[in-house]
Amino acid sequence: MCGIVGYLGGGNATGILLEGLQRLEYRGYDSAGLATSHRGSLQVAKRVGRVKKLAGAVSGQTSRAKLGICHTRWATHGGVTEENAHPHLSCDGKIALVHNGVIENYLPIKKFLQSAGFTFSSQTDTEILSNLIAYHYRKEPEGGETSRLFESVRKSLRQVEGTYGIAVICADCPSEIIGARNGSPLILGVGRNEILLASDVAGLVSRTAKVVYLKDGEIVHVREGDFSISTLDAEAIRPVIDEVDWDVSESALGHYTHYMLKEIFDQPEALENAMRGRFARDGSTAKFGGLNVTPQELRQIDRIMFCGCGTAWHACLSLEFLIEKYARIPVEVEYASEFRYRNAPLDKNTLFMVVSQSGETIDTLAALRESKRKGYTSLAITNVVGSTIARESDGGIYQHAGPEIGVASTKAFTSQLLLGAMLALYLGRLRDMSFNDGVEFVEGLKTAPEKAGAILRHCNQIKDIALKYARKNDFLFLGRLSMFPIALEGALKLKEISYIHAEGYPAAEMKHGPIALVSADCPTLCFATEKDTLSKVISNMQEVKARNGEVIAVRSDSCRLPEGLADDEIVIPDAHGAIMPLLAAIPMQLLSYYIAVERGCDVDKPRNLAKSVTVE
Ligand code: G6P
Repeated sequence: MCGIVGYLGGGNATGILLEGLQRLEYRGYDSAGLATSHRGSLQVAKRVGRVKKLAGAVSGQTSRAKLGICHTRWATHGGVTEENAHPHLSCDGKIALVHNGVIENYLPIKKFLQSAGFTFSSQTDTEILSNLIAYHYRKEPEGGETSRLFESVRKSLRQVEGTYGIAVICADCPSEIIGARNGSPLILGVGRNEILLASDVAGLVSRTAKVVYLKDGEIVHVREGDFSISTLDAEAIRPVIDEVDWDVSESALGHYTHYMLKEIFDQPEALENAMRGRFARDGSTAKFGGLNVTPQELRQIDRIMFCGCGTAWHACLSLEFLIEKYARIPVEVEYASEFRYRNAPLDKNTLFMVVSQSGETIDTLAALRESKRKGYTSLAITNVVGSTIARESDGGIYQHAGPEIGVASTKAFTSQLLLGAMLALYLGRLRDMSFNDGVEFVEGLKTAPEKAGAILRHCNQIKDIALKYARKNDFLFLGRLSMFPIALEGALKLKEISYIHAEGYPAAEMKHGPIALVSADCPTLCFATEKDTLSKVISNMQEVKARNGEVIAVRSDSCRLPEGLADDEIVIPDAHGAIMPLLAAIPMQLLSYYIAVERGCDVDKPRNLAKSVTVE
């Protein structure tokens, strides 16, 4: 949600900033802007649309700037216009600022600044901050002990309420950038003769692997070849420099037309990586190095509460099925955005876990913090090493799925489901699951990459089905038991990237409302992957057919359907029940991908969405 990059060093600031910004574009992409500083003046360029447009706009200019900041926007306050795009300048043109987050008390500050003669040209909350900094900058004495710019940013931030990750430059200060964070991520990159700031590792990793993760309430003063970090109360912080293990080539598109397609095809490898080194020697259970909870403690828990948002929330629902079925521990799932304000009563032996691909989703982070405040052991399943959620949780499981760039989550989802199954196994073996069942479970899990690969090899058949239904405007997705979360996820994928109205339901619930939608114009996708409920699912399909609805069935190899019942069938391999949900999710991803492409949609950057939602 909004991407920021800042640069100070010996290189060509414009080129380096744009390259970083391109990599952060998945965070927001309705407009982009750049400000560089050279010989006492700021050069600013902004464009509505993608970073590519901004790059085109500045391509003819020869810039010798060594310092600059840039931003890719996901609109919160004010429409998508050039005026509202960042960087925002103070009205005297001295201060330029990029911001990710929301300044909540912007109205009283704006009124105060207006009465002091400041003027505004955008509808954003951010512009008040550049002007507030300019206000303090004017009052700050020259030649004080600390820099005027730094002091004025610090004073301004003490006045604002809300969330921010910011980078600030000033026309008078050719070798200074100030960065700060509170609730929105900001990372410092320490390179050779250069220092960068970015919203996440992707924005700076092509320049350096050495990073400092800023914490909420910290402000960093970047000068040529040097930086210092302190709190807003001027308490010095000793920086901890981490080395990130991020292979830039992993985020390259290769021969794929879209990141989403690449990431769908990355799944066999991502599943393999989720399991690597995580099985016990005796072959009967899983092991996790970073849970930081002992088996004895885990045996004490009598409930697990999972929280997440979007696709990660669907993963939580799937984990509920897996853990309740295989470990027999009661599980509850909440939207993180609800949990954070609901003051839900939790039992003293509750284990709290969040699931988040990015590790930065603000609601999920807030839910984690609330659980920690209440003293619960709070764990996380996350894909991004060093993300805020990963750092603030008491322990957890890294997914190792590799960077996910496409806004619609694919490989991160199936990897979360696999890790959920492994967690169910681990917890199950600490309780009632037998050694033999454990061994069978492990063997089943190990087949996931190969079975995922087998489904992907049939992508052309799924493409044909997608083309047949691509012009429909409504879809129903029905699944029973462990397939219910997959029905929800299938509907979400389709909505997100093709803008088709789609709803997911437990199959039997169809009769209580959604059946009213069934018609020749609204196809129904039904999952038939479990023998125990096959006859019931067949009845649901017949109910759809009786109302002239078309049926697309996703069935496992051995769950055969009466001849001619389904209009189209997607057959997935038989597998251990614990990996069936993740296998069934793969055709959903392909189906929505091919439908969206056929409808001419921007698959990797669907309208109005952002990959990482760091504002409420
Ligand atoms: C956004 C994305 C979704 C994602 C959700 C949670 O809404 O568009 O694809 O599932 O955030 O993201 P997280 O990084 O916490 O898994």
